[in-house]
Amino acid sequence: MKSEAAPVLPLGAGSQQGTPKRPQRKSFALVFLSLILFCVTFSDFGFLQRLLPQNGGAVDFKSGCTQPEPLLPGQNSDLEKAYDHIASSAFRNATIKRLSAAVQVKTESFDDLGAIGEDPRWDVFYGFHDFLEKTFPRIHKQLLVEKINTHGLLYTWKGSDESLKPTLLMAHQDTVPVPPETISSWTYPPWSGAYDGQYIWGRGASDCKNQLIAAMETLELLLEAKFQPKRTILLSFGFDEECSGTRGASQLADFIQKRYGNDGIAVVVDEGSGFEQAWGTLFAKPGTAEKGYTDVHITVRMPGGHSSVPSDHTSIGILSELITKIEAEQYRTRLVDANPYYTQLQCGAAYSPEFPSKLKQLLGRRPSHNTCKAKPDHLALEAAKQGPEIKYLMQTSQAVDVISGGIKVNALPERATVVVNHRINIGETTQAVKDRLTSLAGEVAKKHNLSLHAFDGKEEPSSIILSPSTYELEVAPVTPADGSVKSPFSILAGTTRALYGKEVVVTPGIMTGNTDTRYYWDLTRHIFRFAPGFDPEDKAGLGSIHTVDERVSVLNHVNAVRWFMLFVRNMDEAEL
Ligand SMILES: *[C@@H]1O[C@H](CO)[C@@H](O)[C@H](O)[C@H]1NC(C)=O
Ligand SMILES: *[C@@H]1O[C@H](CO)[C@@H](O)[C@H](O)[C@H]1NC(C)=O
Ligand SMILES: [Zn+2]
Repeated sequence: MKSEAAPVLPLGAGSQQGTPKRPQRKSFALVFLSLILFCVTFSDFGFLQRLLPQNGGAVDFKSGCTQPEPLLPGQNSDLEKAYDHIASSAFRNATIKRLSAAVQVKTESFDDLGAIGEDPRWDVFYGFHDFLEKTFPRIHKQLLVEKINTHGLLYTWKGSDESLKPTLLMAHQDTVPVPPETISSWTYPPWSGAYDGQYIWGRGASDCKNQLIAAMETLELLLEAKFQPKRTILLSFGFDEECSGTRGASQLADFIQKRYGNDGIAVVVDEGSGFEQAWGTLFAKPGTAEKGYTDVHITVRMPGGHSSVPSDHTSIGILSELITKIEAEQYRTRLVDANPYYTQLQCGAAYSPEFPSKLKQLLGRRPSHNTCKAKPDHLALEAAKQGPEIKYLMQTSQAVDVISGGIKVNALPERATVVVNHRINIGETTQAVKDRLTSLAGEVAKKHNLSLHAFDGKEEPSSIILSPSTYELEVAPVTPADGSVKSPFSILAGTTRALYGKEVVVTPGIMTGNTDTRYYWDLTRHIFRFAPGFDPEDKAGLGSIHTVDERVSVLNHVNAVRWFMLFVRNMDEAEL
């Protein structure tokens, strides 16, 4: 999982939101005015409606969070035997060994990697492939194995019915690096794959060689049990997820797209969020949405010269003024209906004993279509009081993270540069961020008689220059997650409740970072970023990824194998 993300519909309201491009100012003002009128009319109308009794006043939150019945595949004694085998101590011991061995193959990826075939640091993946080949012999003998861009892995288990779209399971082979200075802080060495009776320890144990090995274990077991899929099963493993995915997932997705076409895949399950206790309820939260992402670089250029005869404001001073303006206002907290957190609130209201009554009230009073962007979103603002982790599920974040400027105390700085990181809220766009920064930079430029180059790729002396990062991502399309209709989501939810019990409430979740699925958007609308393993005793969970003492509980891992086994079979039988 990569901790990155950010954009939305133009946000009409609030001075901090996108400012229109100049030539359109008049017509924008008109649209804006009518939007306000519309909002007022609309909300008044809603207000009147709320005065009328509705179902005796009780709001049916369950209809916004339908829980599919637990779903088990049809009877088949060989496959049931294979499933029961997962619970045996023999399988447990064997999979501990295999996951541990996977961790021991060091597959770090770095931001500064050179070309494949030139930079020797890529060669670790040959070793990882050898390990997989040795460890999962049936898969490598019976399935089609294709290497995409040298190290990407695509396994194909052809189904008997080619009219059915494939089930696709993803994971990545690479891990984030272990900074050498942190090695001594690890309880067990980071590449040991140590097993202490409860956890398997090491870099990649939880992000996400566990997911990769669980998918492999599942197919190996199914092959051994002579399963014959109707629906094609694909495994797709990238190898540079932690440093962009451009060589791995991107090329795998292109390859798969050429073979199966746009919307040619039934469902994708990749690494992602897992389970969480909230308001007294255990939620499973497959990620159905991802925030967008953009870094904006801002540079102020001013004439150089000797410090003894400075201008009143140096490039550093002017940049500071702009930074202060940027931070003076935050993006709006706003929850659109498509945001999975809205569904999660409904799930909480419907099923959680400790769900806050104030939130419930606001939720019940919310107009069914919250199209009005100009008004404060009281529901979102109230929900945001739970803390910044929740707030930023409903708000574009901005963080001034990197700054540089000046080289010598007796020389005026000719350039000062800052990078502002943004993760973009569902319903918004990277353009809205750029429009806002353009407007603020324009004010500062005018004040100091500088020219402005906003995202035009140009620059000149005495100017403020805005430029985007090379990596930029719009908000991901939101996966449909209506549990009341037959859909990949209801199969996933039914599988989860069959495995863990009906007390588990499955709700769509939102990722603030991105996974390799960012390249898979055209392949299917049904993308889930989900870590399906759960262990109620596990205190480490996903909290240990990307840091020291990364580990995964064995029960979590074994449960993931169970889940994949049920899910693959449920998808095989599903009429979608
Ligand atoms: C699994 O390992 C445990 C301890 O490591 C051992 O006691 C047990 O006998 C093993 N089970 C099998 C079936 O080998
Ligand atoms: C602003 O800058 C331009 C050239 O860049 C210059 O001709 C003009 O005199 C400046 N105005 C002020 C008020 O400094
Ligand atoms: Zn990952």
